[in-house]
Amino acid sequence: MKLWGGRFLSKESKLMEDFNSSLSFDKKLYYEDIIGSIAHVKMLAKCNILTNEESKTIVNGLNSIMSDIKEGKLKIEGDYEDIHSFMEINLIKTVGEVGKKLHTARSRNDQVAVDMRLYSKYKALDVIDNLDIILGTIKILGNENAVIMPGYTHMQRAQVVTFKQHIMAYYSMLSRDKKRLTSAIEIMDENPLGCCALAGTTYDTDREFTTKELEFKKPVDNFMDGVSDRDYLLELLSAFSIIMMHFSRLSEELILWSTKEFNFIEISDEFSTGSSIMPQKRNPDAAELIRGKTGRVYGDLMSLLTTMKGIPLAYNKDMQEDKEPFFDAVDTVLKCIKIMNEMLGTLKIKKDNMHNAVKRGFLNATEAADYLVNKGMAFRDAHSVIGNIVITCEKKNKAIEELNLDELKSFSDLFEEDVYEFIDYENTISRGIKKEM
Ligand code: ARG
Repeated sequence: MKLWGGRFLSKESKLMEDFNSSLSFDKKLYYEDIIGSIAHVKMLAKCNILTNEESKTIVNGLNSIMSDIKEGKLKIEGDYEDIHSFMEINLIKTVGEVGKKLHTARSRNDQVAVDMRLYSKYKALDVIDNLDIILGTIKILGNENAVIMPGYTHMQRAQVVTFKQHIMAYYSMLSRDKKRLTSAIEIMDENPLGCCALAGTTYDTDREFTTKELEFKKPVDNFMDGVSDRDYLLELLSAFSIIMMHFSRLSEELILWSTKEFNFIEISDEFSTGSSIMPQKRNPDAAELIRGKTGRVYGDLMSLLTTMKGIPLAYNKDMQEDKEPFFDAVDTVLKCIKIMNEMLGTLKIKKDNMHNAVKRGFLNATEAADYLVNKGMAFRDAHSVIGNIVITCEKKNKAIEELNLDELKSFSDLFEEDVYEFIDYENTISRGIKKEM
């Protein structure tokens, strides 16, 4: 069933019909398609292009289609080219001939553009809400576990940090992600309805009216851009990719920390799986899947960037390829935020193991050098003195604080009894953390 048969003499090939159809995926847009049409029809009546009577009949028809779909009475399937054809043909079935007036002063080009803007805006707001939830979970996890642990650079033990500091780094990352989404929404919040195919319309329509009805900030400035702009999807996909990159880094740490080698955390049974052959195994599959799905979301971004790069103005059918990657990416991101949130909420932090891990690895070497600097030595010389002490400690299999004062003095006269307090791990962390947050 088509909206455009009039100009053709013979039928479209079945192969082409299948190739062209987007209904199987753009059915997700049914809600936005209906509210967009309702705003459009109300505007047509306000501008005396349709009568109030006609507009009411069409709006009632669209509302009854909406409830039939929601109640499962009307299935979005069949021989339709896309969700827009499905709606128009079903409207005509519901309200009769007057339904044929719905598409006055509109093209599917501005129709699909308004549908996607609305859909992606609502979904981006949903992602922001979910980020808020996980930010709350991270804060609780950090506050309940201010235990000291080794901090790493190059995956080598570096300086003492707290678990709270470590996990709150992800709080900062996800807070930036929220800002990125908020800014993308701010930029995209323009109404393309009324651009029509590419050149506007000869009818005296009112774009401000549909803009208010659909709660956009303003109408788009340029019609040709309005129907062929997909920047907003690319911005959202970039923000989604960065969220996934952050989750992938966190997943990697959860996987590493739950190994017997680290043994810093335990991922709950709910988010672990077993092995079909090795009875002892507890595998961190949830974290691995999040890390794996990151590639998929990057792929969605690359797919649309590549689709868009060679398209001349204005609408071209290539743009139908924006939908599946966007739907896939947003569904994946939402699922991953929910899983990560639950996984963090049920995570067991092995505080003693984290605390004990601090004792080996010279995590107070920098502070030992700072001690000498406070006593008057230049930092570069202090660095070298402590480097020599570390060589000795490695030979004796001792920590710096396990050398007695005579041993320390053999490296520098500046060492006094107060060095032990200065390089104590708890003291170093409380001095360092003071300036954070
Ligand atoms: N299914 C199409 C899409 O997603 C709708 C717009 C069709 N426009 C057209 N001129 N054929 O892009």
